[in-house]
Amino acid sequence: MARYTHIIGWGKYVPSQVMTNHDLEKMVNTSDEWIRTRTGISERRIAGPKETTFSMALEASREALQVANFDPRDLDLIVVASATPDHIFPATACLLQDALGARHAAAFDLSAGCSGFVYALSVASQMMVAGTYKRALVVGAETLSRILDWTDRSTCVLFGDGAGAFVLAASETPGGLLSFVLGSDGSGGDLLIVPGGGSKLPASESTVQERLHFVKMNGREVFKFAARIMPKSAKQAIKAAGLESEDIELFIPHQANLRIIKSAAQAMDLPMERVFVNVDRYGNTSAASVPIAFCEAIEQNRLMPGDHVVLVGFGAGLTWGAAVVQWDRVLPTPKPKLKTLLRRWLGYRRASLSSFFRRLGRRIDTLWGIITGRRL
Ligand code: UT7
Repeated sequence: MARYTHIIGWGKYVPSQVMTNHDLEKMVNTSDEWIRTRTGISERRIAGPKETTFSMALEASREALQVANFDPRDLDLIVVASATPDHIFPATACLLQDALGARHAAAFDLSAGCSGFVYALSVASQMMVAGTYKRALVVGAETLSRILDWTDRSTCVLFGDGAGAFVLAASETPGGLLSFVLGSDGSGGDLLIVPGGGSKLPASESTVQERLHFVKMNGREVFKFAARIMPKSAKQAIKAAGLESEDIELFIPHQANLRIIKSAAQAMDLPMERVFVNVDRYGNTSAASVPIAFCEAIEQNRLMPGDHVVLVGFGAGLTWGAAVVQWDRVLPTPKPKLKTLLRRWLGYRRASLSSFFRRLGRRIDTLWGIITGRRL
């Protein structure tokens, strides 16, 4: 039975429509300066009138399947993490299954707020390690612009739309998804909530008038929670993978606020050069944020075979999820400069001597695996 799950395909989609902070200045009482200094966001993408969570998930999935060189008919499982599905039911995953022609795949949606993608990765990976499925598509997709109150400056400036997808394959080869830490604290549910539209407060004239179908958030409390839980869960996942912080080549956190990301990096003693940030261009895309960032890290040549990557999400629920990935794909992207390659391969200046040798050993092992065809 396969004991490991590897990421063999990845794809992202962001709408072409850009909304800048200056655009928002014309809509609510805010300023580019406030948004940039408090959040690090400069602009975000907003879905066009014909775009939905499903349509964006489809674009990202097609790209991921193409990278994996994979026929959708070979998929066993599709999981879509989203807080903004097209419908309460049917699941967006089922719409995707039909559009892709993935006729042998089980499909369902997963709701865990902004942590949804890490939760979905964990669920799919466990089902694969258990031997139930061999090939899965995991997607994080959101159209948050449709549930934002565009008169509420405390929330509407923070979020954006987009989708990201991974194709996973079960394998005997060690590596891939190494560890997961998931958690929740439902006592904080009211801190980030869409109160109306569910079975408690179904849509009515009064729920619409009271704007209960929009995101309500206690930003300050969510900030405190995030700054505490991000480094804590990341450290737990690193430990569960048998690693230490200094073994991590890239940290890909949920992109909600640059201040939260910086504080987590500091608590983990990670220099910012090992942290991936794109919140400036997309804002918070909830469950889509981690896979979009992962795809961009690949596009920017930030990952090398053998690298260890930590993914962390946090959000509504409250929930959190962290995962450690050993990256083992040889990428079809342009090669970085020799100097950059050497610096990455031989470790960072801040690494200790023992971590340097551990890292070197892993690199040689990975290279040997690729040469002998032991790796995917
Ligand atoms: O995926 C998880 C989702 N959520 C998050 O991760 C959000 C976590 N929280 C945050 O990122 C931050 O708390 C915010 C960015 C939401 C807010 O930053 P803050 O530094 O915590 O600001 P604050 O809420 O303490 O508000 C400071 C001031 C307030 O004015 P007063 O009461 O001091 O006069 C707000 O009314 O800033 C005001 N304010 C704004 N001013 C201009 C709030 N939103 C805006 C705005 N433009 N857009």
